[in-house]
Amino acid sequence: MESSFLKSYRPHLHFAPQQNWINDPNGLVYFEGEYHLFYQHHPHSTVWGPMHWGHAVSTDLIHWEELEIALYPDEQGTIFSGSAVIDWNNTSGLFPDEPGMVAIYTTHLETPDSPNSPYVQSQCIAYSHDRGRTWTKYEHNPVLRSADRKDFRDPKVFWYRPKGYWVMALATGQSISFYTSSNLLDWKLVSEFGAGIGCHEGVWECPDLFRLPVEGTEASKWVLLVSIGDSPELYHGSRTQYFTGSFDGRQFMPDHSNIQWLDYGRDNYAGVSFSDIPQSDGRRIYMAWMNNWRYAHQLPTGSWRGSMTLPRVLSLRSIKDKMVLCQRPVAELDRHFTSKTKLRSLSVADGQAYEVDLPASIADINLHLQHDGIEEFGVIIHHTADQQTTVSYNSGSELLSVKRQLTEDAEYALMFNRPQQIHIPSSSHFGLRIVLDASSVEVFINDGLYSITSLIFPDKTCERISIYTRGGDIRLYDSYIAAAP
Ligand code: FRU
Repeated sequence: MESSFLKSYRPHLHFAPQQNWINDPNGLVYFEGEYHLFYQHHPHSTVWGPMHWGHAVSTDLIHWEELEIALYPDEQGTIFSGSAVIDWNNTSGLFPDEPGMVAIYTTHLETPDSPNSPYVQSQCIAYSHDRGRTWTKYEHNPVLRSADRKDFRDPKVFWYRPKGYWVMALATGQSISFYTSSNLLDWKLVSEFGAGIGCHEGVWECPDLFRLPVEGTEASKWVLLVSIGDSPELYHGSRTQYFTGSFDGRQFMPDHSNIQWLDYGRDNYAGVSFSDIPQSDGRRIYMAWMNNWRYAHQLPTGSWRGSMTLPRVLSLRSIKDKMVLCQRPVAELDRHFTSKTKLRSLSVADGQAYEVDLPASIADINLHLQHDGIEEFGVIIHHTADQQTTVSYNSGSELLSVKRQLTEDAEYALMFNRPQQIHIPSSSHFGLRIVLDASSVEVFINDGLYSITSLIFPDKTCERISIYTRGGDIRLYDSYIAAAP
């Protein structure tokens, strides 16, 4: 039985299943007033096993209603990650009467007796005429088989308007392969991306490709997300890289050669964006599995295991000669914080700390800080007398760090407790937004320019934070804490 203490790890603002295991978000799609979140799910255990697509819906992206399982394993295999689209114009011929939902997913079939590969992965489709409540698998599945690839998975499909066809981005080992189709049923390989660029320290998984506006300009660029699976030598475990560039309907061409990370925390993986958000809304909304393959099976959450990040709006910001992928929580989140406490504008003197009681442990802490030279400043989130989560910036190292502390004597504690850091050139102003839920801290730096997403398993929920400084004074202005009692 779950103790009442473990229950406190259940998030209030994030999706987590009622029971058992989840990993990647799948089939994120908006249709007829509902956001759909399908997800990798093992309905019979709190560890990964034969994958199904679980299903939840929401009208505000924050509160989710869990529905019946959408897709069960079949003779093609278990149901791995994939995407969903609305076939508005009946390109598939499966919707003669009215538009409906198509899921494009990978089936994974273990082949222990095969001399070539321990498994076969293929792409299949299923369709729904009732807003995702019931599904029919296409009778001629699979729609795409691999001739020779072992890792061949996680199709992300979108409609490419300039040419009027569907594009699929597919993770193919150490590359992303692009396919096109006029009907979602017949697919043709058109290009492959990845040789000699990006991080190749783990298998490439869960791609997404979309066009994004550059903030404050009329310009836009294509962004390719690629998640990288864990392998034992990786310091960070599993994480996600992104490329910016152009796409002509067939080929993605990057405009940089350096490696770029989507998040500097440990717990943002396999994220993809929603399909079919109405043009009148225009947002590119992203959501990820808030976890890391390194320790995902060991989280101390009782009868459920795994949760999603907050949904975030993506944009590009041009910083010096770089295009940075920015993320901010969706505005719908604000409605769930019913109290708002303004913090006094004040100076914290060198060596001092400003203590603030939190109105509730579920909080959205918005701070603006200014200084004329300091060694270090930070925000300490106090859990118990000797357990804290700390967000700090050190001017000497120019590192912004999030440090969390697992006091439990767990095998993964060493990796879990290592600081999560990002290099940010010294600056006199910092904006920090820290969203605190029962078992997570999501830090957004300088209006979403960088994020550090981090699970926490405190021994006690937080009631107080302190803002400290060393080596100089720091001024706090335009700051507030919103809370959800
Ligand atoms: C990513 C991933 C995908 C795969 C799924 C299986 O976390 O490994 O590549 O489809 O999880 O659950």
